[in-house]
Amino acid sequence: MNRRFLAALGGAVLALSLAACSGEGAGGGSSTGDEKPSSLTIGVSMPTQTSERWIADGNSVKEKLQAKGYKVDLQYANDDIPTQSQQVDQMITQGADVLIIAAIDGTALSSQLQAAADAKIPVISYDRLIRDSKNVDFYVSFDNYKVGVAQGTALLVGLGLLNKDGSKGSAKGPFNIELFAGSLDDNNTHFFFNGAMDTLKPFLDDGTIVVKSRQTKIEQVATLRWQQETAQKRMEDLLTSSYNDGAKVGGVLSPYDGISRGIITALQNAGYGPAANPLPVVTGQDAEIASVKLINDGVQNSTVFKDTRLLAEQAVLAAEAFLQDKEPTANDTKTYDNGVKVVPSYLLPVETVYKDDIKQSLIDSGYYTAAEVAAGQAK
Ligand code: GAL
Repeated sequence: MNRRFLAALGGAVLALSLAACSGEGAGGGSSTGDEKPSSLTIGVSMPTQTSERWIADGNSVKEKLQAKGYKVDLQYANDDIPTQSQQVDQMITQGADVLIIAAIDGTALSSQLQAAADAKIPVISYDRLIRDSKNVDFYVSFDNYKVGVAQGTALLVGLGLLNKDGSKGSAKGPFNIELFAGSLDDNNTHFFFNGAMDTLKPFLDDGTIVVKSRQTKIEQVATLRWQQETAQKRMEDLLTSSYNDGAKVGGVLSPYDGISRGIITALQNAGYGPAANPLPVVTGQDAEIASVKLINDGVQNSTVFKDTRLLAEQAVLAAEAFLQDKEPTANDTKTYDNGVKVVPSYLLPVETVYKDDIKQSLIDSGYYTAAEVAAGQAK
């Protein structure tokens, strides 16, 4: 039964009673598009508070929804899969009307999503695509392949093999590099790595850059749960196993600022940093404040800035469309196949931030203040 048609027919009361008869009244998701925002709750499930980006995401989504009058149930799952499953279950039983979920493990929420579908609760996958379920209604994210391209390009620019405008740089190489990837259970990890490797491939093929450890497969270079400590340990192991002959690391492909900080710590502990033994070029992602300071101080090479305020805005627009019984506007209906279906998506652009870009991209845009950048801490 078409709920919009019903609502038009006889107003909210009739629509609701008929919907209840046809089983559409269970839990939340029974919105006819007519309810006041204050009677609707949006469940927001975020992976972890250990990374500042997810705190910023959670806060932005919550503030923007509340500003429109909606109730918000925001939960963080400590990067623990059973905790996230339980939190989503609870949002459903408590009658959420829409769910916005950034999954820890993209494949672990199928039964929760089935319960959501049974209760007619639309599900918006936030930043990370939820896989293996037909019950994902919309995806808001960035162009994740381009994030990887940006990281690969930043590594080549940092090494002097390319100029920022894409033209050939003056450096000759060969340079030793090492590769890091994110958590294998995160769909994004594969997009980031593929984008970066496609960009690095010609330089790997002609020997201008060399992965000295020979660890080039995503399974070999992945970092479970994106953890900084795990990355630090792997970098330490690489230094011991592959650089004890005096060879130097020239660059490290890192997919995320937390991982970059682990890598940098390992390198500094091994004596990299002073002018006579400079740190390699280390890339990143998310413009986390601690890393923006490192970039400003010339320690980390770059980060890929993804404006979480814009992502939150898209999530809110999508939620609002569903609540008004409309389809959210997609700008990509091809790229994100979750294994069961192609999920309509809204993808935002990304931006590489080198030291010279901090002022314009991050400070002038109001993302951070100059004082926060100098302190390496956001208020
Ligand atoms: C990814 C996300 C990245 C980064 C990473 C670690 O899914 O797209 O921006 O935040 O998780 O949290």
